[in-house]
Amino acid sequence: MRIDKFLSDMGVATRKEAKDSAKRGGVQIDGVAVRDVSAHIDPERVTVSYLGRVVEYKPYVYVMLNKPEGYVSATEDSRLPVVTELLPEELRRRSLFPVGRLDRDTTGLMILTDNGKLAHALLSPRGHVRKVYSFSAAEPLRAGVEEEFRDGVVLADGYECKSAKITLDEVRTSGFITLTEGKYHQIKRMVASTGNKVTRLERVSFGEVTLDASLERGEWRYLTDSEIKTLTDALGV
Ligand code: URA
Repeated sequence: MRIDKFLSDMGVATRKEAKDSAKRGGVQIDGVAVRDVSAHIDPERVTVSYLGRVVEYKPYVYVMLNKPEGYVSATEDSRLPVVTELLPEELRRRSLFPVGRLDRDTTGLMILTDNGKLAHALLSPRGHVRKVYSFSAAEPLRAGVEEEFRDGVVLADGYECKSAKITLDEVRTSGFITLTEGKYHQIKRMVASTGNKVTRLERVSFGEVTLDASLERGEWRYLTDSEIKTLTDALGV
């Protein structure tokens, strides 16, 4: 990999900045200043420093985003804003994509990565990864939905949902739903099957990763190493 690409992929410098800094001795490979950032390195085998700091090699990037309403869970759309527009340029250059979809009007936890294998495993029904959603409904949910959800709701098109957990507040108009699958509009359709309507939907966790309360809607941060580990450990990838 070219040195300037490495530095820009790791998000520490643009290629232009890398080139300019290298001229002033700011880029070092194994402690030796390099002037030519078009040279190739094996980032697994050498230590790269930029402006005196070691740049850790991260082959994949994992990001948590607090998705606002109005954004499509995609990397491009001809008409509407997409979630990757909320990321800075250096991350967009790494071609991150969202792990699974949230509806345009759904908010909350979205994980983005460039690790296709992990994304695939997280979304596979065999992974049984639990996703928790906070929701509100137009009317109080009818008595017995807890058991109906546990036993597997049958949607209008005949699809039989896997066992899900629903917990409700006292007035039964809001609560949490935990799913281990992710069919199109699943929660909206599950609630619709009880003769009700979802009026607000937010994802609050994905596996062991919980939406960071300090992130405003539209804000993002890198997943911590321990968050990444909970995802990879659970799936054995
Ligand atoms: N279920 C839905 O209906 N919508 C979402 O965005 C996620 C789960």
